[in-house]
Amino acid sequence: MTSEVIPVDEDQLRVEIRNHYAEVATSPDHEFHFHTGREAARRVGYDESLIHGLSDEVIASFAGVANPFHFGLPESGETVLDIGSGAGVDSIIAAKAVGPKGRVIGVDMTPEMLEAARRNAERMGLDNVEFREGLVERLPGEPDSIELVISNGVLNLMVDKHGAYKQVARALKPGGRFQIADICVDKPVSESAKRNIDLWTG
Ligand SMILES: C[S@@+](CC[C@H](N)C(=O)[O-])C[C@H]1O[C@@H](n2cnc3c(N)ncnc32)[C@H](O)[C@@H]1O
Repeated sequence: MTSEVIPVDEDQLRVEIRNHYAEVATSPDHEFHFHTGREAARRVGYDESLIHGLSDEVIASFAGVANPFHFGLPESGETVLDIGSGAGVDSIIAAKAVGPKGRVIGVDMTPEMLEAARRNAERMGLDNVEFREGLVERLPGEPDSIELVISNGVLNLMVDKHGAYKQVARALKPGGRFQIADICVDKPVSESAKRNIDLWTG
């Protein structure tokens, strides 16, 4: 597999992404160039049965781009890792599915999103889900420990996508699954678009 050299500064990109998603966490009613909250979840294909138990406050900062549970919910008792977990909506859905014998770990790099996710888990009365600060590029946690990794809208924000896949492979138990909800383009991206950091942060 070849690694492409991407002409944006990775640290600068992370700063801009954090600023952007901090606002989604703290001011979900602001206008963004993407949909957020319950309406966004409905638009990207979440069945009502997945989200009807979530209050408006809990779902307000949802910023996913599709539905990783399209491929199925985790089984009771499984351990799930949600990379780029944001305000925790997918982690909460997974925590309800795995039940008290299972466990869900959300990882995100934006402190305001982590605060929102922890508050949301508390509102839902869930104690089988935890949120850790970290980068997908350097996932915290033991190798070979996860049955299901889910991601919703984070891979398109990352420069080192191959590195992210390697981290996921390291975290998964043999036979584990990776359910990705993300944005793909089917045309080559121009060099000028690749250098435009504002297009990355979207
Ligand atoms: C589009 S939002 C989606 C959040 C959540 N998955 C959801 O569906 O609502 C992307 C999230 O990924 C986080 N993120 C972006 N790049 C990251 C990275 N390299 N490592 C960890 N988190 C990252 C952002 O802080 C943000 O919370």
